[in-house]
Amino acid sequence: MTLPSRVKLVDVGPRDGLQNEKQAVPADIKIGLVHRLQDAGLRHIEVTSFVSPKWVPQMGDNAEVMAGIQRQVGVQYSVLTPNLKGYESALLSQPDEIVVFGAASEAFSQRNINCSIAESIERFAPVVAAARGAGIHVRGAISCTVGCPYEGEIAPERVSLVARLMKDIGVQHVGVADTIGVGTPRKVQRAMEAALSVYALDEVSGHFHDTYGQALANTLATLEMGVWQYDTSVAGLGGCPYAKGATGNVATEDVVYMLHGMGIATGIDLDRLIDAGVYISDFLGRKTQSRVATALLNKRAG
Ligand code: HMG
Ligand code: MG
Repeated sequence: MTLPSRVKLVDVGPRDGLQNEKQAVPADIKIGLVHRLQDAGLRHIEVTSFVSPKWVPQMGDNAEVMAGIQRQVGVQYSVLTPNLKGYESALLSQPDEIVVFGAASEAFSQRNINCSIAESIERFAPVVAAARGAGIHVRGAISCTVGCPYEGEIAPERVSLVARLMKDIGVQHVGVADTIGVGTPRKVQRAMEAALSVYALDEVSGHFHDTYGQALANTLATLEMGVWQYDTSVAGLGGCPYAKGATGNVATEDVVYMLHGMGIATGIDLDRLIDAGVYISDFLGRKTQSRVATALLNKRAG
């Protein structure tokens, strides 16, 4: 067991979280959320996606949001780019990192990005080449690494296959995503091992949705493998429009509390992070999904 002493968290709330909201969230609220996250010490924020506004209207204000952020030195702002059209639009917003997103499940690939896994790699290749040529870091996300809403259980071999395809086109990092939150610790470890058969420990991250309440356990299970990078979402926001019923990512607050409690540094101020979660939850008119935020807010009130 080799626990890391420091963990990098990418808050994906503004993207993964707000892409799934039924109500419109104005750009200035999204910008306000990004500002609060960086003020809380987040150094990696997934801001938005340059996808088709017909598919995901919630992200249609991508350029406006990127333009409105008062960027802080040392903070990396990432965006999703499914194809060259998305990359070309994203480039005008000067992201620090782009994310190409594929899947370990054929059916999910079709539903989410309207093409097969093989076709998705063909579409990503010129995006990756262009981004790397421009000095922009390229991350890959692999959806449905343990389970798929359409195909059921997914074998680890399918994760290593997609990781290999991504590696071959120059993707620098892969995120192992449990899109629908069905994974349990051993299964998620096997999916992570599959990614680690292709990518180095410093080039992988976990992205765990908490639909079945397993995300914190899955985080710990992969921390014990030495994984030190995770996508998390403030207030537990999130979901995917093409994975019905899937709830948000593990709450950033809960992961920060667990890590700090284990003596693992994150650089994040939990109190200010909770404030960021309150800001967006108040706007959305509902309670935070973070157990830690709920507990600490009750304590504050008392
Ligand atoms: P398509 O319809 O096959 O694309 O969609 P197309 O190339 O045939 O083009 C059709 C139209 O879309 C054209 O416009 C294009 O210009 C336009 P028209 O001529 O009809 O007016 N178009 C675009 N517009 C803006 N930006 C673009 C773009 N590309 C084409 N980039 C496409 C293919 C990939 C675009 C579509 O399927 C799509 O946008 N999908 C996005 C789905 C999505 O955002 N899902 C959520 C994010 S992934 C996720 O949440 C999982 C993750 O969190 C990890 C996990 O938890 O698993 C990352
Ligand atoms: Mg996700």
